[in-house]
Amino acid sequence: MASNRTMLMLPGDGIGPEVMGEVRRVIDWMDKRRHVSFDVKEDLVGGSAFDKHGTPLADKTMQDALDCGVVLLGAVGGPKWDNLPFDKKPERGLLRLRKEMQLFANLRPAKCFDALVEASSLKPEIVRGLDIMIVRELTGGVYFGEPRGISDIGNGERRGVNTQVYTTSEIRRVAAVAFELAQKRGNKVTSLEKANVMESGVLWREEVTKLHQEKYKDVQLEHMYADNGAMQLVRAPKQFDVMVTDNLFGDILSDAAAMLTGSLGMLPSASLGAADPATGRRMALFEPVHGSAPDISGKGIANPLATIQSFSMALRYAYDLGADADLIDQAAENVLKSGVRTADLGGGSAKVGTTGMGDALLKELDKLAA
Ligand code: NAD
Ligand code: IPM
Ligand code: MN
Repeated sequence: MASNRTMLMLPGDGIGPEVMGEVRRVIDWMDKRRHVSFDVKEDLVGGSAFDKHGTPLADKTMQDALDCGVVLLGAVGGPKWDNLPFDKKPERGLLRLRKEMQLFANLRPAKCFDALVEASSLKPEIVRGLDIMIVRELTGGVYFGEPRGISDIGNGERRGVNTQVYTTSEIRRVAAVAFELAQKRGNKVTSLEKANVMESGVLWREEVTKLHQEKYKDVQLEHMYADNGAMQLVRAPKQFDVMVTDNLFGDILSDAAAMLTGSLGMLPSASLGAADPATGRRMALFEPVHGSAPDISGKGIANPLATIQSFSMALRYAYDLGADADLIDQAAENVLKSGVRTADLGGGSAKVGTTGMGDALLKELDKLAA
C-alpha cells in the first residue's frame, strides 16, 4: 500500500542485516493486519557501503536520510574494516548520520522485563521492575571536538589528541529533553559528569542547574559524578529515573545498563533532533544499542528484539503510532513470558535463533490483534 510514512532502512554489517530481516516481517505484518504501511527505501552503511562505494556513507544515502527524516539502522563495523584509515571506518558512516541530521538527543531506555529477571547478571531483587531512561548527548563532546588527530612529535614519539568540548546551548537542549521525559515518567533527573576534574563537566553542571531553576523546578534534579554513576548502576539501579550525560559517558553507561535488562540484544534506542518550528517534526534515527557482533554474525542466533523495539520506538516517536508501538512491545513481553529465548538470554524452555524469535513475535502479534 502507498504511504507517506517514509523510512530509510540501513541494515549495515554483521548481524545488522540478520536482525533487520525480522523488522521487515513486522512491517509486512503491520501492512496486512493493521493497514499501517511504510515507504521503505533500503541502502548501505558502514563496511558494506565502503565495499561498494569506497566510503562508509555515500553522499546520496546521506541526502536520502535528510529527505526521509526517519532512519532505521542495524549495526556497523567488523574486523574486516578495522584497519582502514579513520575517515573510511564503518563507524564514521553512523557518526556522519548523527551529526548531519543533528540528532543531539539519544534516548536509551533500559527496562527489565519480569520474564528476564533471571537473565540479568545481577541479583533478581536488584533489577526486578527496573525502568530507566538514559539520555545521551550525541553530536558533541569528545566524539567531535577539535583539535583531534595523531601526530609525530619527534624522537619516535607520537601523540593522539581528542578534545572534550561543550557549549551552553548544546547542554541546555539535551537537558531539556531529559527534563521533559522525566515529567512523563518518575519526575527525577540525574545529571552525570566529572565536574571534579573537567571544566566541561563544571559547565555541564552549571547549565543543567540553571535550566532546572528557570523551567523545570517541579522535576527532582540530582548531580552525580559519572564514575559513581557507573557504580550505582550496578549497585542499586532502581534509584534512577532519567539519566542525562555526555556523549562518551552515555556510550559507556548505556552498555552497562544493558546487562541490567538481561542482554545487550534487548536495548533499543532513538536519536532525535530538534523539532521543526513549522511542522513539529523531528529528524530521527532508530537503532539497537548493540553493534555488529562479529563473534556471532552469520550464525543466525542474534537476538532481534533490540532492533524490533527500535522500530517500535520509531512508531512512537516518529509516526505518532503509539498504540501500534504498544502492541509490539506487548508481543515482545509475551514472547519472553512464554519462555522463548535466543542464546544471549540464557535458559528458557524454548531456545530459538533469530528467525525463531521473529516467528514467536509474529504469533503473539496475531494473538493480540485477533
Ligand atoms: P557488540 O555490541 O557488537 O558485541 C558485544 C557482545 O554482545 C558480543 O559478544 C555480541 O555477540 C553480543 N551481542 C551484541 N548484540 C547482540 C544480539 N543482538 N544478540 C545476541 N548477542 C549480541 O560490540 P563490539 O564487539 O564491541 O563491537 C563490534 C563492532 O560493532 C565494532 O566494529 C564496533 O565499532 C561496532 N559497534 C557498532 C555499533 C552500532 O552500529 N551502533 C554499536 C556498538 C559497536
Ligand atoms: C554506539 C556505538 C557507537 C558509538 C560507535 C559504533 C560509533 O558504540 O552507538 O553505542 O560509540 O556511539
Ligand atoms: Mn556503544
